[in-house]
Formats: sequence, C-alpha cells, structure tokens
Amino acid sequence: MLQKIEFKGVALAPIAGYSDVGMRKVCADRGADMTCTEMVSAKGLVYGSDKTEDLLRTTDSEKIKCVQIFGSEPYYIAKAVEHRALEKFDVIDINMGCPVPKIVRNGEGSALLENIPLAQAVVKAALASDRPVTIKYRIGVTSGKIIARDFAVAMRDAGASALTVHGRTRTQMYSGRADWDVIASVKQAVDIPVFVNGDIVDRASYEKAMEITGCDGAMIARGALGNPKIFSDIKGAEIDGYSLKEDILTHLDVMLEFHSPNFVAANFKKHLAYYCRGMRAHREIKLKAFACRTVEEIREVILSYF
Ligand SMILES: Cc1cc2nc3c(=O)[nH]c(=O)nc-3n(C[C@H](O)[C@H](O)[C@H](O)COP(=O)(O)O)c2cc1C
Repeated sequence: MLQKIEFKGVALAPIAGYSDVGMRKVCADRGADMTCTEMVSAKGLVYGSDKTEDLLRTTDSEKIKCVQIFGSEPYYIAKAVEHRALEKFDVIDINMGCPVPKIVRNGEGSALLENIPLAQAVVKAALASDRPVTIKYRIGVTSGKIIARDFAVAMRDAGASALTVHGRTRTQMYSGRADWDVIASVKQAVDIPVFVNGDIVDRASYEKAMEITGCDGAMIARGALGNPKIFSDIKGAEIDGYSLKEDILTHLDVMLEFHSPNFVAANFKKHLAYYCRGMRAHREIKLKAFACRTVEEIREVILSYF
C-alpha cells in the first residue's frame, strides 16, 4: 500500500548545489510543507558514490521529505529506490525537466519528454519503492511543441502520485516567463495533484499563479535562495522579530553537523551571495565571502554584516 501523502501547499524545489540539508531545514522552519533534495543520479546511488549519499542528509524539521533522482534506465531506477540512503524519504521525485546538455545527451532529465514510453517505464520502476512517485518536468522541448498535457496523462497512467510542472520549455532554459496558462491546462487534464513551478517570487506572484492554474500547490526554487522567509510570507504568517541572521547561522550549523568544515566553507559562500541580496553592502559582503578559506571566517562575515 502506498503511503498517503497530501500533496498541497508550498514546497522547496530541488536546486542543484543549493537545496542542501541546511537550506531545507531553514525553509521547513519558515513554512515549506515539502522540501526536495537536489537531483541525485540513480546510477551514482547504485554504484555507491559517497558524494551522492552526502546530498541525502535530512533533519526532522523537514515535514514531507522528497528525494529527487534522475536516470533513464528502469533497471537502475528500481535499484536506486531500494537504496538505504533513500529510506528516510517520504516521496521519490523523478527529474524529467533538466535541460543541461550533458544530462540530456545521456537520455536523462528533459530527454524523457521525447520518449514517453521510456518515461512511463521509469515511473513504473520507481514504484518498486512502495512510496509515492512524483514527476517534475517542463512543458515541452520547444515552444512549437508543448506536450505538457499529454505528458501529464501518461505519467498519471504510469502511476505517478503528483506532478510539478515548470512552465518553461527545455530550449528556454531559464529565460522568458513561465507559462502558467499551460500549467492550468495540465491541472484540468489530470485527477492527481499538480504543483505550479516557475517565477513565484513573493506572495503576490504565488497568489496569481494559484489563481491562474488552480493548482494544488506551488514549488519555489530561485525565490527561496537567500530568502527562507518566502514561505511564511506566502502563507501570510508574520514572524515576530524575524532574524535573517539566525536563519543563516542555523543553515551554517546544520551543514556542519553533516559535512566537513572544508566542504562547508567551500559551499556556503554561494549561499551568502544570495543571503546578502538587496543589502546595501552586498558587493562588499560577496567579496569578503568569496575570500574566506575557513568556516570561522565565514561566520565572522555573517556576524559582522547581518
Ligand atoms: C541553480 C539551479 C539548480 C537547479 N537544480 C535543479 C534540480 O536539481 N532538479 C530540478 O528538478 N530542477 C532544478 N532546477 C530548476 C528549479 O527547480 C525550478 O524548476 C526552476 O528554477 C523554476 O522555478 P523558479 O522560478 O522558482 O526558480 C534548478 C534551477 C536552478 C536555478
């Protein structure tokens, strides 16, 4: 029996290089109903890469824990979902939207948009996990061929429990605007929950996206970078005496619980570059952050500027 999960609310999207265990924790603390790891390779898991497992740390703060895997070979997908590092996750999401050429050349990510029977076989293989399987995908490869509705129906038929639709095509990458009207047509076409994704950056854009699409929930990526409070803002939940500094320090400390100081020092700078967005001293903070060699130096930057 599949575990029953209510797919609704506001979720943190998978963001390669960013949606680490620390970011997922602070976003969950600020109201994210579901939080996703960055994409991890199904094959990487099967062949036991420590680097892959490192991306799969979680904390109890996360409400619905979602792991995103990518791959195009049903054999590896079925083996990957049985991996012990995935045991703590409530949901298995499969990446069918990644536009990066290296991934697409391997037939993975958004390449699956062009091979619906294989995409269905991948979903069926993931169902071996006995957990809800969800799909995150783009509305098509090019603007001349939007396949979002047909793809949604095919994924539902294969056994997907919910869908997240990024309203851009593969060739658009991250340019132009997410097409929420196409996502509305997906919501109309299937009887499983649908999350709208793309260009939700605050409460106003969230409300507009939900109004246009009628979706069950929304997924946010770039709008959450450096801004975990976006989740409470969207929910209209005021946080008394909110302190971004506290969130940044929590993020840093959680990273240190799970990773080596060297890893954290190297990886936290890019988060700081987002955390200081909109601040007057943002250029100076970025320069200082990127010059840091140790976690102590990073902490010093946080304590002196935020
Ligand atoms: C740096 C970066 C890394 C991303 N990594 C992933 C990923 O690992 N898996 C995935 O499905 N989407 C990934 N995405 C796409 C986002 O999840 C999301 O679909 C896209 O950014 C649109 O949403 P947004 O407007 O809220 O950012 C990534 C996006 C960015 C900018």
